[in-house]
Amino acid sequence: MPATLRAVQADLTTLAVDAIVNAANPTLLGGGGVDGAIHRAAGPQLLDACRPLGGCATGDARLTPGFQQPTRYVIHTVGPVWHGGDRGEAEQLASCYRRSLEIAAAHGLASLAFPAISTGVYGYPKEAAARIAVATVRAQVPAFPLIREVIFCCHTAGDLARYQRQLADS
Ligand code: AR6
Repeated sequence: MPATLRAVQADLTTLAVDAIVNAANPTLLGGGGVDGAIHRAAGPQLLDACRPLGGCATGDARLTPGFQQPTRYVIHTVGPVWHGGDRGEAEQLASCYRRSLEIAAAHGLASLAFPAISTGVYGYPKEAAARIAVATVRAQVPAFPLIREVIFCCHTAGDLARYQRQLADS
């Protein structure tokens, strides 16, 4: 059976999955948006776990426990800042999804939930980002048979509609 890909409208920090993915920044020391929400929900232990990681490059990802959240783990990835599209942003964004799947599989995780990486503070156009998210996960997930479910966690009704269109189209 192929893995299930689906979109939901929810607060990512409420999802009881094996791992939620954080749209972090290269310091991994917290910030606003979904990153701030995850650090608030996890509690101060999350920052203590992130500090020794020494940061993370754009397009790469790191794993920590989820602490006081329903999720078991957080995979922190760093999306690209949108500069107009000619600075490798699409490849870096695809790399965030790919690396997160690789790390989940390497830890034997079966379910994970992604936010719409880079589409808030980092300014990536939402439609293009949703297309990359769905296409990358769909292309990569068969290589990781342990991963059974990938949830695209949408903050707004507009995001949910966008992801549902992408899931139906591709
Ligand atoms: N649950 C699900 N999605 C959310 C939530 C939530 N609780 N909160 C926001 N979103 P952003 P970025 C959506 O700005 O663009 C931070 O300061 C939001 O609507 O969180 O990758 C980091 O430290 C949007 O669709 O992340 C970095 O400095 C998506 O999450 C920077 O922001 C991503 O928006 C990263 O910027």
